Amino acid sequence: MSETAVLDAQDVVVRYPGNPPVVAVNGVSLTVAPGETVALVGESGSGKSSLARAVVGIEKVAAGSVRFRDAPVTPLGIRRRAVALTGIQMVFQDPSTSLNPRRRVGDQIADGIATARARGAEGSRVEEWLHRVGLPATVATRFPHQFSGGQKQRIAIARALAARPSLLVADEPISALDASTQTSVAALMRDLVAESGAGMLFISHDLAVVRRIADRTFVMYSGRVLEAGATERVWSAPQHPYTQALLAAIPEPDGAGRIPVAPTTEERILWSEIPPVVD
Ligand SMILES: Nc1ncnc2c1ncn2[C@@H]1O[C@H](COP(=O)(O)OP(=O)(O)O)[C@@H](O)[C@H]1O
Ligand SMILES: [Mg+2]
Repeated sequence: MSETAVLDAQDVVVRYPGNPPVVAVNGVSLTVAPGETVALVGESGSGKSSLARAVVGIEKVAAGSVRFRDAPVTPLGIRRRAVALTGIQMVFQDPSTSLNPRRRVGDQIADGIATARARGAEGSRVEEWLHRVGLPATVATRFPHQFSGGQKQRIAIARALAARPSLLVADEPISALDASTQTSVAALMRDLVAESGAGMLFISHDLAVVRRIADRTFVMYSGRVLEAGATERVWSAPQHPYTQALLAAIPEPDGAGRIPVAPTTEERILWSEIPPVVD
């Protein structure tokens, strides 16, 4: 990669203790360039969230390395505020995990703006961020519990973006939104991070949305990346049989784009034995 990547993960392994231990991520390499949106897709349990937590430093990396803007990401024990100050923001599937139930919405977005300013980045006004995610300024004085899941997620997204991160890691950020707004919110996230030169790691099982917003797509399966490349290439000419099976199962045209049910154990072994296609 010619310009310095905002995120450079190499041969990352994430293991959970147990008998036997679970190898959730089994040697994954992935980069995100400034202004780039990289999507991570794969069925439930393929290791997407474990990788996401590892790259932001809230999950221990058992092997491999993670670098953020050329500095190592220090694993474990990092409090969210400390992570934010490095320029990384996260949005999770459940907005309740990103929002403080006891703080007013406007104050939480103001926290994001303060984080941006603490890093020397430009911060705009609370109302402006609310407007960008499609909420009226009047919501600023209210508390998170007064909103629907979809509205809460918009607030969480506004708070994360207001901090002007260099890297936004979004793990299933649109799942809580109603179907009619999923694509527009995902596109908005992509545009807002790209306009500030930030990178985004976007995790979703909605392939139709991924196709619209991601520059590159990584297909994860059983802890490994089986295929990666430019989104349009992966979509129009998938090389790995697993990706082909995945895309073939999407209802046409442009249906919900859901990833199909987990394959049988036999296929599972087979797919992992076929060499990955990464370009
Ligand atoms: N905290 C945990 N402790 C033990 N196993 C876990 C933990 N989190 C995830 N796993 C296991 O790791 C694997 C990958 O999970 P996850 O990263 O959540 O995948 P995805 O986000 O793709 O659904 C699964 O087998 C899951 O059961
Ligand atoms: Mg997950």
